[in-house]
Amino acid sequence: MTRPILEIRDVTVEYASRDGPVAALEQVDLIIEEGELVCVVGPSGCGKTTLLRIIAGFIPPTEGSVRLDGSPIERPDHQRGVVFQQPALYPWLTVEENVAFGPKMRGIQKDRRRELAESHLRLVRLWEFRHKAPYELSGGMQQRVAIARVLANDPRILLMDEPFGALDALTREHLQEELLKIWKTTGKTVFFITHSVEEACYLGTRIVVMSPRPGRILTALEAPFSRQAGTQDSRTVKSSPEFVALREAVLKYIWAVET
Ligand SMILES: Nc1ncnc2c1ncn2[C@@H]1O[C@H](COP(=O)(O)OP(=O)(O)O)[C@@H](O)[C@H]1O
Ligand SMILES: [Mg+2]
Repeated sequence: MTRPILEIRDVTVEYASRDGPVAALEQVDLIIEEGELVCVVGPSGCGKTTLLRIIAGFIPPTEGSVRLDGSPIERPDHQRGVVFQQPALYPWLTVEENVAFGPKMRGIQKDRRRELAESHLRLVRLWEFRHKAPYELSGGMQQRVAIARVLANDPRILLMDEPFGALDALTREHLQEELLKIWKTTGKTVFFITHSVEEACYLGTRIVVMSPRPGRILTALEAPFSRQAGTQDSRTVKSSPEFVALREAVLKYIWAVET
């Protein structure tokens, strides 16, 4: 662990609605260090996506501040790459063109764009599929292209909003492994939202548990499993007593406020 990359301080968010203001987040404080893989879990509607939108720069907080490398976040840019539940690739571009698109928009020269597309498609093991259209790939492969596309912009932090939520269980487990490999290879900082407690415990170096609306951080627990990934198969890890104990600890926080 080194220095903070992201500092969220005392963030409150209220949305305007027909019935008056809706408090989505209340006094959220979160400091993320370089290289962490922070997983956020919490019930639907607790403000997870709102928190991600604040970090991405899509919306400003009502109160509080968010800083990346010490500078206030004021608008979306390539420093924060977002991966959504739906891959949202451009259907009229090939896989390779999708990945090269961000660098192209940033004025990067053609040869360098090719290199970036190739290295990132190799990273997600889809280089052989570079000439395909996105719709020719499975959902899991499309999501890997989406990850490659975001990483080709060399973001400081990768923001992922339930990225595996729409995939079948087996594909989801494969992509969890892929993500851990990518995280280890690139050393990127990752902010990962999920409502699967098991997924959070498996992927996170830290698990942030949020309360129902208005979302507050109930606790943050350290987890060792992602750093150990690759040494044991995932089912062995997920059924180990240490893993089950962590999963139950997280669930206890969630249930304590729901009942
Ligand atoms: N644009 C909006 N206008 C009004 N209310 C919103 C808006 N976006 C989200 N909300 C409300 O804020 C709360 C938090 O939403 P969200 O951040 O999407 O939660 P989560 O991602 O945890 O499911 C919810 O109650 C939701 O209905
Ligand atoms: Mg959400």
